[in-house]
Amino acid sequence: MVDLTHESGAGATPLRPSTLVSLDRPDLTYTDEVAAATAHLYERVRDVIPPVEWPVMAPYVKAINELKRERNAVILAHNYQTPEIFHCVSDFGGDSLQLAIEAARSDADVIVQCGVHFMAETSKLLNPDKTVLIPDMRAGCSLAESITGADVRLLRERYPGVPVVTYVNTSADVKAESDICCTSANAVEVVESFGVDTVLLIPDEYLALNVATQTDVKILTWKGHCEVHERFTAAELEEYRDAEPGLEIIAHPECPPEVIAIADFTGSTSKMINWVRDRKPAKALLVTECSMASNIAAEAPEIKFVQPCNLCPHMKRITLPKILDSLVEMKEEVTVDPLVAERARRAVERMIHLKS
Ligand code: 13P
Ligand code: SF4
Repeated sequence: MVDLTHESGAGATPLRPSTLVSLDRPDLTYTDEVAAATAHLYERVRDVIPPVEWPVMAPYVKAINELKRERNAVILAHNYQTPEIFHCVSDFGGDSLQLAIEAARSDADVIVQCGVHFMAETSKLLNPDKTVLIPDMRAGCSLAESITGADVRLLRERYPGVPVVTYVNTSADVKAESDICCTSANAVEVVESFGVDTVLLIPDEYLALNVATQTDVKILTWKGHCEVHERFTAAELEEYRDAEPGLEIIAHPECPPEVIAIADFTGSTSKMINWVRDRKPAKALLVTECSMASNIAAEAPEIKFVQPCNLCPHMKRITLPKILDSLVEMKEEVTVDPLVAERARRAVERMIHLKS
């Protein structure tokens, strides 16, 4: 174990946990002690994780929760993380807006972002003095990949004076070129906040089309798509509905318009969850990343979820072993160029202040 103090001059000065390079790797044997220490956590996921899998997960869960305290770290998990991460090691779970707000409130030294890279970047923007780690740097996003800062500058030249609203699913470079950010939870409110008749809402074409149905503001957009949500089709969903009478279909606004048209409700991941919690349908199909239904099923086993399993390959890069590595070795650290960060932070903070 690395000593948490270092000798300098007269007394031992405590090191900030985030400055430590590496800790010893914990023993990952499933013992009676590990079983007892994690039994209360298994209770949270027993309906979605078979007992045979728990002995593999439990040693990681215990080690991560201990290291978190040692590092004064907080784990933020997006709604698409798997149940053992979402329910057993995270301190806060939510949609991208909630995670951004929670990151801003945190007084931990270290933030471990269990989500994709743009979410970790957003946490870093709002917490420039904290160490922000992502367990796998390759956890990207097809929407974030679809547009660059240079593209936004060209759009500004082409549409002078038109406010630029960027979805948080973008890089810090893109946010830096924007007037304000939005998420799927607040996009309509953000678009209307300018009081003008035309707004650029980029890069998600389907989110923009969806917002356009809810406002009189003319929306200009971009051809970016989420590789997970664009795969759903109305025909496929109608087949599920025919096979399961009474099925409620709840869609994320990143889905194509034909899917939104047949859905019983459309909203951000947190709005979808709240809808299910409030309405408690007997059967539901969440037209979104597959793990979200598992996370709700863990709390509400009485709801039958039909799960067409579209997984986000980027979200699924985050695993218990990688979270543990992150905390042991303090990797991968997410950094943003300070000049870019200052402008990108402004766009994110404008959105957050609009919300509060
Ligand atoms: P939410 O903002 O609704 O959590 O969505 C983020 C995301 O990546 C959806 O694919
Ligand atoms: Fe990006 Fe889609 Fe994955 Fe969300 S689900 S992170 S929008 S690729």
